[in-house]
Order: sequence, then C-alpha cells, then structure tokens
Amino acid sequence: MKAAKLSRVLVLFIAVNSYSFEQNLIINVDNRSTVSLNGKWQVIIDPYETGYYTYRYDINKNGYFRNEKARSKTDLVEYDFDKSETLNVPGDWNSQQEKLLFYEGTIWYKKSFDRIKKPNKRAFVYFGAANYHSIAYLNGKKLGEHEGGFTPFNFEITQLVQEKDNFLVVKVDNKRRSDGVPTLNTDWWNYGGLTRRVMLIEVPDTFIKDYFIQLKPAQERGLAEGGKGSLKTVAGWIQLDGKQAEQTITVEIPDANIGQTFNTDANGYAEFEFDAELKLWSPDNPTLYDVTIKSRTDSVTDSIGFRSIETEGSKILLNGKPIFLRGISIHEQAPRSNSRAWSKEHSEKLLGWAKEMDCNFVRLAHYPHNEYMPRTADRTGMLVWSEIPVYWTIQWENEGTLENALNQLTEMITRDKNRASVILWSMANETPVSDARNKFLSQLVERARNLDPTRLITAAMEKNYEGNNKPVINDPFGEYVDVLGCNEYIGWYEGLPDRCVLYTWKTTYDKPVIMSEFGGGALCGFHSDKHTRWTEEYQEYLYERQIEMLEKIPFLAGTSPWILTDFMSPRRPLPGIQDYWNRKGLISDKGEKKKAFYTMQRYYAKLKEGKK
Ligand code: GCU
Repeated sequence: MKAAKLSRVLVLFIAVNSYSFEQNLIINVDNRSTVSLNGKWQVIIDPYETGYYTYRYDINKNGYFRNEKARSKTDLVEYDFDKSETLNVPGDWNSQQEKLLFYEGTIWYKKSFDRIKKPNKRAFVYFGAANYHSIAYLNGKKLGEHEGGFTPFNFEITQLVQEKDNFLVVKVDNKRRSDGVPTLNTDWWNYGGLTRRVMLIEVPDTFIKDYFIQLKPAQERGLAEGGKGSLKTVAGWIQLDGKQAEQTITVEIPDANIGQTFNTDANGYAEFEFDAELKLWSPDNPTLYDVTIKSRTDSVTDSIGFRSIETEGSKILLNGKPIFLRGISIHEQAPRSNSRAWSKEHSEKLLGWAKEMDCNFVRLAHYPHNEYMPRTADRTGMLVWSEIPVYWTIQWENEGTLENALNQLTEMITRDKNRASVILWSMANETPVSDARNKFLSQLVERARNLDPTRLITAAMEKNYEGNNKPVINDPFGEYVDVLGCNEYIGWYEGLPDRCVLYTWKTTYDKPVIMSEFGGGALCGFHSDKHTRWTEEYQEYLYERQIEMLEKIPFLAGTSPWILTDFMSPRRPLPGIQDYWNRKGLISDKGEKKKAFYTMQRYYAKLKEGKK
C-alpha cells in the first residue's frame, strides 16, 4: 500500500475569491432585511410562449411582461393576469394542479407589491431557485435571466421599484434541453416553477455582499503538528458591494472572545486570518457560533461552525480524526407528498429520518437542495455531500453547457461555503468516461478548488471489472478528486442479492471511497418471500447481502444507499408498483418505514458503537 499521503485538497487557501468569476449573489439572505413575496401568484400557462414571441417567433416587445390591461372597449389585450388562476410560491406547479402534472413548458408568474422607498437603501429581488430557465421583469423592464433549476439568483431593482403597484413578472420554462444541465434524461420529476422562496432584500448603499469564514486548511498551517494541522486558525475574506469600498471591517465572535479589525481595499475586498480557541463542529457536537461582520454602513450575522475536513490515504479525517460516513442519499422530494421540498419543516423531517437511521452523513442528490437543508444539517449535526446536476450524458464539448455547469457550481459554493456541515462538493453523477468528459469535469474541479480550497471534491462514478466478480474503481476522473464516489446496483440491476458476497472490490487509487448508491425497489406493504422482487423482504435481503460485501472493503470510508424516500420519476410507470414513483426508498411516499430501513439502522448502530 503506497504511503498514505495528505490529499491535494490542501491547496493555497485564499488564492481566489468568487469575484474573479463575476457573480452577484447575495448570501445569508435569512439574516438580512427582507420582505417575503411568497404566497399566491397569478399565472398564465403558455405552452406556445405566446407571451414572449410574436407569431413570427421574434421576441415580442409587447409580451406578457408588460402586464397590459384593456383600457377601453376597443382595446385588444388577450391576457389578464389579475383575472387568471393562481399558483402557490414556493412550489412546483406539477403537484398543484392535475393538468400540470406532466406539464413541461412556460408559465408566466405575476406578483404585485408596494414598497416604501428609504434613503441610502438598495433593493434586490431574490429567488431561492426557479426550474429551469427564467426571465424576470419589474414594471415592464427586463431584470435578467437565469439558467439552472436549483441555485439562487438575485437582481437589483433599486432604480426600477416604485412606491405603489409594482408588478414583478417572471417567465419560467422547465422544458428539458439537450445542451442543458441536466440534459434531456433524468430519473427525477421535472418539477417546474418558482420552486423556492422569493423575497425582496433591502440593504445599505454599500453592503456586505459576500464572505468566507472557515478554518484555514492544514497545509497553510504547515505540517509541523504531524500533518493533521492544528485547528486554531480562522481565515477568510469579505466583499463589500457599493461606492464606499474602502472601509474598516470587524469580525466578531463573542462566544470565542474574538473581535478582529481589517480594512477593505479599493474593490471593497479584505482577507483576514487570526487564531482562535473554538469548539469544533461535528455531527455529535454541532457547535455553531454567531459571527457578526460589521462595516461602517452594514452589519450581518451568521451562525457558523468551525471544523476541518481532510483525507489521509483511504481515510476521511474530520477535525483530524478518521470518520466513517454513515449516510443515505436524498432527493428533494417533500415528505409524504408528490411535490418538491422547499421548507424548513421539510428539511427537518428528511434529516430527522436520516438521524433516526443513525446517519451522520447525507448525499443531497443530484442538485443543490434548498438552503434549509445545509442550515438544518449545521444545526442538527449531519455531514453533507452537495452536487450539481451534471448527470448522465450531457454535451461535454458544448462551451455553453460548460459555462452553465460552471455557473451552477459557483452559485452552489457561493451560497453554502460557510456551512460546516457541507464537506463534499460533487461534480457529477454517472457520467460516461471519455476525454471530452474528463476535460469538462476537470475544469469544474479547478473552479471548485479556486472557490473553496477547504473542502473535498468528489463525483459519483461507476465501476469497471478486472474479471468476474472483480469490480475495480479506476475511473480516470478519479485522478482529479479527493474522494471517489461509486454507484453500484449489484442484486438489483446486476444479478440477484446473493451475487454480492461473490465480489472482491479493488481500487487503483489511494483515496477514500464512498459507495454513493446501492439498493433496490420495494413497494411498501408488499410482502412475500425474499426472492420476490418489489417486496420488502427482497429489499431487506438485498441490503443484508450488500452490507456483508461492503464490510469487506478495506478502503471504504462511507456509504449513502439509494435512497431515503420513494421519489417521483417519469421513468417509472410500472402500474400498481411504481406508478411514476421510484420505489428504492427505505421510507415510502406515505412516510412508512420499510423493513430495509431497520437493516441499515442496525448496521449504522453497530458502526456507531465502533464495531467497524
Ligand atoms: C442511478 C442514478 C439515480 C437513479 C438510480 C436508480 O444510479 O444515479 O439517479 O435514480 O440509479 O436507478 O434508481
């Protein structure tokens, strides 16, 4: 076995902040002055995009964004938001109306609001996410566009907003695109709409737009302390936005008696580093500190945990100590519902079920989940794998597709980089090996390392074979990542459960491996012998055999079986069993635990007691 080496993750810390990649996302919106725009929005279902294109398919300058009204009996206006039906925001449209369940196309949303203008204040409209492509307008003026259904975006409206009768119109189109991220084919429901919160954010003329405050990665601290690095140095940066760029900034952590002062440069940017005695964050002790950043013109508080995450050979080290990731994969499926999850309560339920299973880790698949997930994970003590939807076979040689993926990656990292719970950024899931693919994915890794040198990089890859029953993890992309994710369905898509015990696993890398997917389907309540597919007994037996196989893998550092709950998928039509649900959940769509849930719970309890 090659000498265990500290992984490449420990590159220079503050090499590059996100502003070298133009992004204007405001972070930590929940601790800002905001006005919610959630609730009922008027909508127009527009499959032919009549509100956007003329009959010649040119952009219509008098499109629905004008929110026109017939003003006289002779006026011809063929839409009227205020007489139209409504949809709830946040919320996917598919689960709100039977007629929209399979709808893929454009829906126009309109929300009217008044706003008291205040001197020396700026205003932004913020979207937690909108699937898939959206164009926003305020009072008939275009604010901007956003592509990607799972990351936040905001537009400044300071100059456009008026005291009364503002109308915010958003065209949301969830049509799948071959050059999209994801592309045409996914095994999850293509929920469309304003799927997450919408709010107005009010900030001072010059405000604290973005910051990064974490423990400095070990390498920067030097390897003096036996290569595991001391956990005392806090490092990071702050970015102001506004004319008064050069200001004195203080970073206060009262519970750690910290109060440090720095000065921003002519670009409103400051880097800092200081030593601090901190209680480290871990799943067993999810200690969060109130951290307040103050400038002359603004102040923002965030609750932040401090922990380090590294690898050493095939081990993952949390705060310098090896940890086994007892995990489960989760889709953003609302508990006991056919809709997309978005709320704090949804996150508490889903992560609560994972806790019940004795998990200390969740793989949030296959896209960045709503912000409540990492924040609830921070608070309740759950390690997180967060992923962008570079899923299956996307257009590797399409520059636009790469830019889109890079942008989603940047938005994901920008939003969650101060979350202690998030330890892994995943670049992709089950992508076919090719030079073009490797090149594409390696550019994502480079961006991720530049944006955040404190976390581990991974991807869910597939195995190869070195002979019968000899699976090997040797995907060439493994070279670029710190942790290898591997999806396998032995006993479900590949043979029957008994096949598991025949397998001896190998890897060509001296790196930790997470078995990021395994499992099989079961219809909750369907019982028979353990060889009958779709029964709870088959799923239970499959998990028992999988665990026997997994326990024999020396380089295994974690598992996240597929999947916590049944989830909606257009690829699963089997009547009476699936009915458009992927039934691989350990918990049903009605929140009932299947037998295999307890199989994993027993295994994780054993691991927790250290009987690994
Ligand atoms: C794949 C894929 C998942 C999918 C699962 C399944 O591995 O990553 O998105 O849902 O298998 O087939 O159930």
